[in-house]
Amino acid sequence: MIYQNVKKSRILSGIAPSGDGTLHIGNYLGAVKQFKEFAKNNECFLFIADLHALTTIQDRAILQKNTETLILNELALLGDLTNITFFRQSDVPMHTELQSILNNVTPLGLLRRAHAYKDKLEKDLPEEEINLGLFNYPILMAADILLYKPNFVPVGKDQKQHVEICRDIAERFNKTFKKKVFPLPEPYIPEEVAVVMGTDGKRKMSKSLGNIISIFDEESVIRKQVMSTYTDPTRIHPTDPGHIEGNMVFSYLDFFGDKRQVDSLKEKYKKGKVSDVEVKNYLFESLMRTFKEARARYRELSANPDMVKKILKDGAQKAHEVASQTMAEVRDTTGLTNQYSFFRY
Ligand code: ADP
Ligand code: TRP
Repeated sequence: MIYQNVKKSRILSGIAPSGDGTLHIGNYLGAVKQFKEFAKNNECFLFIADLHALTTIQDRAILQKNTETLILNELALLGDLTNITFFRQSDVPMHTELQSILNNVTPLGLLRRAHAYKDKLEKDLPEEEINLGLFNYPILMAADILLYKPNFVPVGKDQKQHVEICRDIAERFNKTFKKKVFPLPEPYIPEEVAVVMGTDGKRKMSKSLGNIISIFDEESVIRKQVMSTYTDPTRIHPTDPGHIEGNMVFSYLDFFGDKRQVDSLKEKYKKGKVSDVEVKNYLFESLMRTFKEARARYRELSANPDMVKKILKDGAQKAHEVASQTMAEVRDTTGLTNQYSFFRY
């Protein structure tokens, strides 16, 4: 399936505030940037999956902080919200309501096969220590998706199975109640930047591995991260011919630098005519240029909580409209609605 051939689709994705909420350039290239592309010609829904975070974060202050930080990071990076409905999962109670209904068409075996749960079991965690929220995680995620009947769900590779479980649940619902309420969503996994490697050049960029380049940290922090990025270990002096392949500074420059300038730096590097520090300085400048507006927006949003609240309120309102239509259909299809019903969303 080639996404580019599809006109004006509905796209939905969620992001859980299970880390500290700060996004790095891997998150930007692997997720946010694609979403901005989608939003150019499609109707997009993006939400903060705070209920999902509750499966692992069970501390009031930490959940609050992580969620607030993630909201600011996302909004600052997204910028223009044309075509994007941005909201918080727990502001739209239909997510949990639909989950509760989908519980009834979800076989236990389907959930037992889910990676997140299996991983915990493999880590020898006794069942006593695995909460039901985690076990049910894919059903809540199915509800998140199906409420909005999206065509595509952009996710990282690790989430593909959850979207497949969602399709399975949707099919079972349609079959059980003999009505095609839920169209089956397609996972969309961007290929070309599937995984951004970390500054160590060895593993996926990830906050927990300490191999990231941040976006909203102080300039001095980002400069340090850039300066400690893995380059070419065989190169001792700037006059030694250097290697481009596997050199993380050039990998990042391919995304953030000006193509002509990067090509010229690569040629010089291969001939031993430019130092690592000069190339790293150029990467630092390129990052600052790329994220200049986002960093300014971040400061503005941080200083204006009412502005953030208004965005979330507008987003929740729009999400409510769509979600409540689906829920009315679900209540009717399942027989929850009858001649004595008065409930209106
Ligand atoms: P992780 O995937 O490390 O658990 P998150 O769940 O916070 O990180 O990721 C949020 C989004 O950013 C997901 O869509 C994920 O695929 C993407 N992402 C995270 N790390 C990278 C990376 N190193 N390269 C590309 N995309 C990434
Ligand atoms: N589980 C996803 C993650 O950890 C977040 C998520 C929750 C999501 N609900 C979703 C993603 C619905 C896409 C669609 O990244």
